[in-house]
Amino acid sequence: MYYPDELIEEVRAGNDIVDVVSGYVRIQKKGSSYFGLCPFHNEKSPSFSVSRSKQMFYCFGCGAGGNVFTFVMQYENYSFQEAVKLLADRAGVNLPEIEYGEEVKKRESKKARLLEVNKEAAKYFYYQLRAKNGQAGYQYLKKRQLSDETIKKFGLGYANVTSDDLIRYLKSKGYEDQLITEAGLGSFDEKYGMHDKFWNRVMFPIQDSNHRVIGFGGRVMGDAKPKYLNSPETMIFDKSRNLYGLNFARTARAGNMILCEGYMDVIAMHQAGFSQAVASLGTSFTAGQANLLRRYVGEVILAYDSDGAGVSAALRAIGILKEAGLTGKVLNLEPYKDPDEFMKNLGKEAFEERIRTAENSFFFELRMLQREYDLNDPESKTAFHREIAKKLCGFSEEVERENYIEAVAGKYHIGFDNLRKLVLTYATQTGFAMPAARPKSGIQKKSDPKENQKKPQKLLLTWLVDEPALWPKVKKYISPNDFTEEMYRIIAEKLFADLDAGTLNPAAIISLFTDEEQQREAAGVFNTKLMELDTKSEREKAFHDILLSVKRNSLDYFSSQLGADVSAISKVIEGKKELEELSKTHISLD
Ligand code: UTP
Ligand code: MN
Repeated sequence: MYYPDELIEEVRAGNDIVDVVSGYVRIQKKGSSYFGLCPFHNEKSPSFSVSRSKQMFYCFGCGAGGNVFTFVMQYENYSFQEAVKLLADRAGVNLPEIEYGEEVKKRESKKARLLEVNKEAAKYFYYQLRAKNGQAGYQYLKKRQLSDETIKKFGLGYANVTSDDLIRYLKSKGYEDQLITEAGLGSFDEKYGMHDKFWNRVMFPIQDSNHRVIGFGGRVMGDAKPKYLNSPETMIFDKSRNLYGLNFARTARAGNMILCEGYMDVIAMHQAGFSQAVASLGTSFTAGQANLLRRYVGEVILAYDSDGAGVSAALRAIGILKEAGLTGKVLNLEPYKDPDEFMKNLGKEAFEERIRTAENSFFFELRMLQREYDLNDPESKTAFHREIAKKLCGFSEEVERENYIEAVAGKYHIGFDNLRKLVLTYATQTGFAMPAARPKSGIQKKSDPKENQKKPQKLLLTWLVDEPALWPKVKKYISPNDFTEEMYRIIAEKLFADLDAGTLNPAAIISLFTDEEQQREAAGVFNTKLMELDTKSEREKAFHDILLSVKRNSLDYFSSQLGADVSAISKVIEGKKELEELSKTHISLD
């Protein structure tokens, strides 16, 4: 479903980026741009810039950048379409109703109904908690030391002892049995007919990252089993792709996220000011949840229960975090069982201290492993060292591996050379593990051969954006097809057309891409600072080299694509000629 380009441009033009960003981030004018603290990474001095003339933002620290759509997408965690909608509303632009296929329409309206019925149920529970017969629930939450403010913030509620009042309420609001059942709020029974799923429990509405209620957890107030009853998975409730508390945590910007086991832990931590706390949803931590966290942070601190189950859950989570390219640390909550108890007994300063001293997840793994061995027995001790060596093979990057070998050797009093030898022995058997994928973009990207071809293409575009006056001099040498990188070709097409028409509009070029990653990269084209070269002849040489390199790469590319295609052959011959001519031509930068 796509809006026409002109409409998207109308929406974009109707939302000045400085105004929109100011609604979220404090920025100050400095020279021709505005600067502030980057909302997309943790920093102390401002490297986040917003330009009114370019209608773009760019962070010199983390490489985040784009136009007003990109900003809303990243900040609100919206899709492109959702960002267009929000900004259209803001600017008072009418968007046409989009024509969906029947199937899609049905699904969408079912989802919307499920969201509505959940919201209505949350309201009902919330109201019950404050009603006369909700006293038991309210008292329970108070006993657990939750403030009224916290209860309100998390929308906590109460399902009372009547077994069909929610259903009667929802039906009075026009929701049918079928929908109520599908949402997991009630079920049908031969004997009792329709009855409520949640009954005599305090209710924790589970919200997605946009604060929409997608399900519930309900806790008994005593020791009955099960302790928590949770909504089943539905079209809108995917337990492996949502996290409790993420709707608040995603804007916490603490530089890390704290992952705990339970709803109550999350709530206790937020109440104490640690609003970066999240928990999985009654199921174990998944790769999907790790990916979700990676949108916001690079480091996750595990605050799992300190009992046996908590430790094995933490060990599992560490593996998943590593796989996702996240750094894991483990919080020591001893002598308490979980963050909730810890907070109640030792308070927030002590908790902060534990965050500061959280253990590197690899050392945590070794410490747990050690418990299975008797280090006074040489046989067992050797076995332990072998296991350590095997684990060290998991670091594929040499520098990192060597650093760990050194640290581990020191910590466990193993000779460095011996341990290193042992690691190599295992590595020759099994090989060093493949590096964990690190799709997180930004400045840390490792260089690969493809990067070397991309770079001149990007620089050429950047140069032309910076000095549009050069365009008439080079246009006969270069065409969008010379950009073998698909996204640069798309940019070149629009940029060159704009340059011809004298209507350069960088922010509109970014809207050509609906993917955040691509928008960020496109923004890079417009915000890269070209190298500072002293003399004119140096600059001319640099420009000439870049142009040649783009041309040469394009020729190589088309040559390698040569099949029996005659037109391609003539294209290559032509390209060779052009390249020769270009290499002899002096292009003045005056
Ligand atoms: P905990 O037993 O640690 O719960 O289970 P908790 O959140 O700390 O609750 P309190 O402090 O005892 O009130 C951790 C999480 O496991 C899921 C819930 O998501 C819970 O928050 N769980 C636990 C269930 O889904 N069902 C259960 O019966 C128990
Ligand atoms: Mn608990």
